[in-house]
Amino acid sequence: MDDLMPKIISLCKRRGFIFPSSEIYGGVEALWDYGPLGILLKNNIREQWLKRFVQKREDVVLIDGTVLMHPKIWEASGHLKNFSDALVECKNCHTRFRADHMESGNFVGQGKAETKNQCSQCGGKEFTSPKQFNLMFKTFLGPVEDASHATYLRPETAQSMFTNFKLVQEAMRLKIPFGIAQIGRSFRNEITTGNFTFRTREFDIAEIEYFVKPGTDEKIFEKWVDDWEKFFIDLGLKKGNLRRYEHKKESLAHYSKRTIDIEYKFPWGFAELAGIANRTDFDLSQHAKFSGQDLSYFDEAAGKRYIPYVIEPTLGIERLLLALLIEGYEEVKGGRTETTKAVKEKEAVLKLDKKIAPIKVAVLPLVKNKPELVKKAKEVFETLKAHFMCQYDETDSIGRRYRRQDEIGTPFAITIDFETLEKEDVTIRDRDTMKQERVKIKDLTGILKEKLNV
Ligand code: GAP
Repeated sequence: MDDLMPKIISLCKRRGFIFPSSEIYGGVEALWDYGPLGILLKNNIREQWLKRFVQKREDVVLIDGTVLMHPKIWEASGHLKNFSDALVECKNCHTRFRADHMESGNFVGQGKAETKNQCSQCGGKEFTSPKQFNLMFKTFLGPVEDASHATYLRPETAQSMFTNFKLVQEAMRLKIPFGIAQIGRSFRNEITTGNFTFRTREFDIAEIEYFVKPGTDEKIFEKWVDDWEKFFIDLGLKKGNLRRYEHKKESLAHYSKRTIDIEYKFPWGFAELAGIANRTDFDLSQHAKFSGQDLSYFDEAAGKRYIPYVIEPTLGIERLLLALLIEGYEEVKGGRTETTKAVKEKEAVLKLDKKIAPIKVAVLPLVKNKPELVKKAKEVFETLKAHFMCQYDETDSIGRRYRRQDEIGTPFAITIDFETLEKEDVTIRDRDTMKQERVKIKDLTGILKEKLNV
């Protein structure tokens, strides 16, 4: 589907998943707000991650660190020096571009008169030579805006897991190997944006710093690559749409000995969804050096003290959400509903996994002008909403309402019809098979719990 992205962007806006931030002011590039359904979807993804990597494991604990931290952290971590992109500027209109996105060796500033590159804004052909541009957002702690009060919004959550390594290990009496997990807001002043929510300036990272004994790192690294990938498949991404990309030595981040990206086949091609890095003892050693604190660990079993190595599986929650929307989006021929005859246009269905669907159950009275039906439907809604995220809808034909629910990925729709009033039963319609079954109202909650596996 060539026009898939515009369709997804339109659905996200129309149905309350994702809106441009500050839209009434014309929006801001690379910033997006999550609407009522978007945030439910995002929370469900976060919950699945927490369930799998924290709740179900004995060796991983969760923390929630601050976005603003001691400025020295960014010196120690290497971000001040290394977390940058090389930019060139159009000499005519001063628009900046990432140098690695230009054809190499063609910058006028580097002494070449000819360039194949042309400014996408004004058509200019002359660019400055590349300059490093740090991707961290700078701000000030307190009212004085001078160098001694400057700090940065975190570009990754990892650092507070390193700085809290000792506190967490001691408080929770953890033995290596163990992990510290965190989900949180991260900020990057990205130069190249676009592709909807793929690359934004504010996003959630979910990552684990897994501390291991040096020498065991390579095997544990492999295991995390498998576990990370399996998580995506279990959430609904097809294995065939995922692939692994091994970073070449020269493109490794400054802290990494080995990095494998898990890439997803986005409509514009394979691109990074998540990554696993072997950060060695780089971060703990750097923080020990800059803070003057001993961050070594005494391994009782091995009878020796060492600085642990760190394996870091990481992922961007919004990027995963986007991949799941793309994977789940399907169009089917019209006439999905039994009651409408005329409509034959294409209809969108969001085949999200039940675990993450924002609304689990829709409750629909067959018609809204029969008070007995509406009353019964509201009773059913009251009962169900104590257990599941539900939506009550009585406007438009039942066919249109099914389609609306299909479009937002609701796995089950409950219809209250005239038979309900006589027999105390309702129909459950399945989003994917469109099949309907009649069940007694008294059994409904139990049946839905079983179907939704909750
Ligand atoms: N602590 C390691 C780290 O931050 P990263 O590859 O720079 O690694 C982690 O970022 C993940 O965050 C990426 O795999 C990607 O899913 C997501 N991510 C990175 N930059 C992003 C951006 N500008 N917008 C949305 N997601 C982003």
